[in-house]
Amino acid sequence: MKSVGTALFAAALLAGCSTVTRVAEMPAATAARPSEDARVADLLSRMSVERKVAQLIQPQINSFTAEDMRRYRFGSYLNGGNGGPYGEEFAEASEWLKLADEMYLTSVAPMPNGEPVIPTMWGTDAVHGHTNVIRATIFPHNIGLGATRDADLVRRIGEATATEIEVTGIDWNFSPTIAVAQDDRWGRTYESYSEDPAIVAPLGAALVEGLQGRCGEADRLGAGHVIATAKHFFGDGGTDQGVDQGEVTGDIEALKRIHAAPYPAAIEAGVEAVMASFNSINGRKMHGNEALLTGVLRDELGFDGLVVGDWNGHGQVAGCTNTDCPQSLLAGLDIYMVPDEWKGLLETTVRQVEDGTIPMARLDEAVGRVLRVKMRAGLLDEMVRPSERPNAGDYDLLGSPEHRAIAREAVAKSQVLLKNTGVLPLKRGANILVAGSAADDIAQAAGGWTLTWQGGGDLDNSYFPGATSIWSGLRSAVGQTGGRTTLSADGSYAAKPDAAVVVFGEEPYAEFSGDRKNLAFSDEEGLTLLRKFKAEGVPTVAVFLSGRPMWMNRELNAADAFVASWLPGSEGAGVADVLTGARPFTGKLGFSWPSRCDQGPLNGPQGALFPVGFGLDARQRSSLPALDETCAPLLAGQGSDWFVRGRFESGVTARAGNTMLPDLRGSASGVSATGIDRNAQEDSRQITFTPGSSLTIAQESAGSGAYRILYRVAERPGEPVTLTIGDAALDLTQPLSVAAGKDWREMVITAECAPGLGDSLTFTSAGAFSFDIAEIGREELADGTRCSF
Ligand code: BGC
Ligand code: BGC
Repeated sequence: MKSVGTALFAAALLAGCSTVTRVAEMPAATAARPSEDARVADLLSRMSVERKVAQLIQPQINSFTAEDMRRYRFGSYLNGGNGGPYGEEFAEASEWLKLADEMYLTSVAPMPNGEPVIPTMWGTDAVHGHTNVIRATIFPHNIGLGATRDADLVRRIGEATATEIEVTGIDWNFSPTIAVAQDDRWGRTYESYSEDPAIVAPLGAALVEGLQGRCGEADRLGAGHVIATAKHFFGDGGTDQGVDQGEVTGDIEALKRIHAAPYPAAIEAGVEAVMASFNSINGRKMHGNEALLTGVLRDELGFDGLVVGDWNGHGQVAGCTNTDCPQSLLAGLDIYMVPDEWKGLLETTVRQVEDGTIPMARLDEAVGRVLRVKMRAGLLDEMVRPSERPNAGDYDLLGSPEHRAIAREAVAKSQVLLKNTGVLPLKRGANILVAGSAADDIAQAAGGWTLTWQGGGDLDNSYFPGATSIWSGLRSAVGQTGGRTTLSADGSYAAKPDAAVVVFGEEPYAEFSGDRKNLAFSDEEGLTLLRKFKAEGVPTVAVFLSGRPMWMNRELNAADAFVASWLPGSEGAGVADVLTGARPFTGKLGFSWPSRCDQGPLNGPQGALFPVGFGLDARQRSSLPALDETCAPLLAGQGSDWFVRGRFESGVTARAGNTMLPDLRGSASGVSATGIDRNAQEDSRQITFTPGSSLTIAQESAGSGAYRILYRVAERPGEPVTLTIGDAALDLTQPLSVAAGKDWREMVITAECAPGLGDSLTFTSAGAFSFDIAEIGREELADGTRCSF
């Protein structure tokens, strides 16, 4: 990240590396090199309390201005998964770099009172490539990389990702996730390399080395490298029932052996940051857990970098709010990730230092850790603005052919072949039909954390210049063997094909939105196609896109070959490489595959249909015995759609005052609802309120499950907007303001914020206000799923 000239100097500091052995030899406090200590002490001695606290405050780009940066001098800032420079989520890379420069320059403007200027740094979630930015190479999500078992490949992915991050002037990556997911119902399973810590550890360490450079090498944290973060410490993958941000229970030593096990390797690889996890362990939230954040991470594991919090994670500690949480700092957190309410937290924390609630020594220790990491990254040496650093502004590096080649290799190596009665490899010169709506859908192949937080949705292929869908990869690969391909989403054809490739799977999701009650894959599009081809005597290859193994017995029975493709990303040609035999199948499961569709034990060898390590190569033939297709959760269904494609489900009504609005259309009592187009003509509604009016949408027959509402807001409400649901009145003013001007987003309302839920929704607006609704539905989500807006 720093300019080449300072690389050698910084390398001499042995930045954060070999901590483990060093700590074994001397007390932790003296572990850092004296030159670092002396510099840190000098800086601290010249900083005011407010400047020190500001080093620990990390807001997100859409909630502060350059003026705020000049006034407060935040130590770091982030872009959230839905954030982009100047409020534009899909901004060109040059805009990202422009913002980086602007924030950097305001952070280093001379201080009026002679205090030292400390450059800020920008953190981002480049969790499978620099995928917040258009044109970046999109690598397979970690679950796919786990199937490769190839640490060298993962290291090269880290290098390519770091380079692409540098193009946009960003300093710091919140990656790798080294969670050891134990229950695939967890919505973040795909961020985990494996359910086995022995598979996770070397891959996590390899990504750290790729991102930061190797310990002892001259370019570590220099050109082509950025700061890495091992996350989320610890237990993220071990929550009860796989509930995101939930509770982990059990014997602490046993939990450490699974969930903390990948950290020593990451620390040895020199990782400079660790992110605290949202979950609690045996009743205590990690963000306030001194025994684990300090006792285990620092004292036992010898970590000497900085600990960053997760998105308002401190606000979840008992007794804390987003703007008041000395507990976290005292427990060992160094940076608060406080996306929006940074000002309140900054002011409270300054007061708590002044009144002694937070000892100066603890403040200095936390600030010192931040300064040390900046020093190691070269930020404090030559003050070089982001756009003048190596690789910055070299936009051809985003999605460069070299990086795409690495991604394509990763895709090919991550495909796991579960069944093959002989249809694979596809025969040279054959006539291949490619079916399924996912076949030509790059966003679906990329999954969550792709351009937007949740991914998918409205992201059609035009958002992915330079990327290759699975369909287009197959078209050219089959073409090269002299064969023919036809894309037919619905599986219809004129001339009977020699084989059909059916691409289908999960729609994208991220974090808690991906939590499930069970692992039954209920969408029947792929199944219907596979059965249709079977009836017609066309051999089939099922390509299943997913963030986790799922119960697929029906599809496994129906298909002649079955490939677990995970979330391959932008290089669909890698899938074609193995289907055509240009590359062998070498992928092995990093997760056990469930044989039953109901609850656990979900992971582990007991009862697995395919164990960890399973994966055929295409020369092997396997015909599975007929698998049991009964599945109670499927019969129960997964929920209901109240409003979808512009229609109400039967029993649902809308009412303003005493007037019904059939299919949510018309106007009465100050509310008007008009049809607007989202994906299809008039499939959505614009709802406009005059001051004091309300709209009720209700289902006459009692239902169950959380509400999901797909909505969009053009302008922030000027006065309060509330949603009454069951007995709860939720104040939507703030979330609607945050959503204003953005694209469609989903509101998930669970019993967590609306106990008892209920069968009606009433929106009331105190002022004139308007917003759009595309879908309303109910769905069974895992117990404890949190509300989100
Ligand atoms: C996620 C983190 C991520 C952070 C910043 C959180 O919700 O848990 O993994 O780094 O947001 O986007
Ligand atoms: C995510 C952010 C995201 C935000 C959306 C967080 O939990 O980690 O990256 O932008 O939610 O509200």
